[in-house]
Amino acid sequence: MVNYIEASSAPLKNTGAIRLYGPDAFEGMRRACQLTARCLDELAAIVKPGLPTDAIDRFVFEYGMDHGAYPATLNYRGYTKSSCTSINHVVCHGIPNDKPLREGDVVNIDVTYVLDGWHGDSSRMYTVGTVKRAAERLLEVTYEALMRGVAAVRPGARTGAIGEAIQTFAENERCSVVRDFCGHGVGRLFHDSPNILHYGRANEGPEMREGMIFTIEPMINLGRPHVKVLADGWTAVTRDRSLSAQYEHTVGVTATGCEIFTLSPGGLDRPGLPPL
Ligand code: MF3
Ligand code: CO
Ligand code: CO
Repeated sequence: MVNYIEASSAPLKNTGAIRLYGPDAFEGMRRACQLTARCLDELAAIVKPGLPTDAIDRFVFEYGMDHGAYPATLNYRGYTKSSCTSINHVVCHGIPNDKPLREGDVVNIDVTYVLDGWHGDSSRMYTVGTVKRAAERLLEVTYEALMRGVAAVRPGARTGAIGEAIQTFAENERCSVVRDFCGHGVGRLFHDSPNILHYGRANEGPEMREGMIFTIEPMINLGRPHVKVLADGWTAVTRDRSLSAQYEHTVGVTATGCEIFTLSPGGLDRPGLPPL
């Protein structure tokens, strides 16, 4: 059985109940998510061959500090960086380091700012110089998969409708969907109920209701879906070393569909790709 609970009266821990947020929460989430989106916009002009990913991480930290926000990943479950930077066959949770980005790389940058207690969680793929057509195609497929998932959000439908929309599209494009990581409820907490699977069937999962807030963040591979986590305990890579991509939005369920809180104010939702 699924429980739904008015967010302001619920304890600040993940009890499995799904929080329903009101207008003030939506306003708080808009602000946190737009700060994250503006940071991701700024990074489009910064990401270049030769740049080490820890320079990206430093930018994310400083940008947060300059705008009164704290990076949620910093000291989260032993993670010590302000962002995740996942290059090429890294699926997610890549740890920024001093190695320079190389021409032809594709890198996901995932940022979560906490602003006034609200979590804004989003990630985008960035191209480093000119990338191969196969890489560009994977990025296009992954962004489209995310947006098909977003389009399935409406009260009354089940969360499985999101997964079905993503999986059907990605597999039709001869790509595969990573099963080991999922989207999540977000708001006052970084990772909350419900889990949002990026595969499955429309009749599965809890029913969506107005006031729910969660992320959709599909990881799509050119090869097989299987991943392994490296000895650092974080870095997830494709087992077959095939290219992997991810985009993430935070959305709130409205009466008629959803509001995408993390849309790019600068039209840079797909940096490095031709405009839609
Ligand atoms: N931002 C990631 C997400 O989309 C979570 C990163 S947790 C970390 O949920 F510890 F790896 F940073
Ligand atoms: Co997330
Ligand atoms: Co994220």
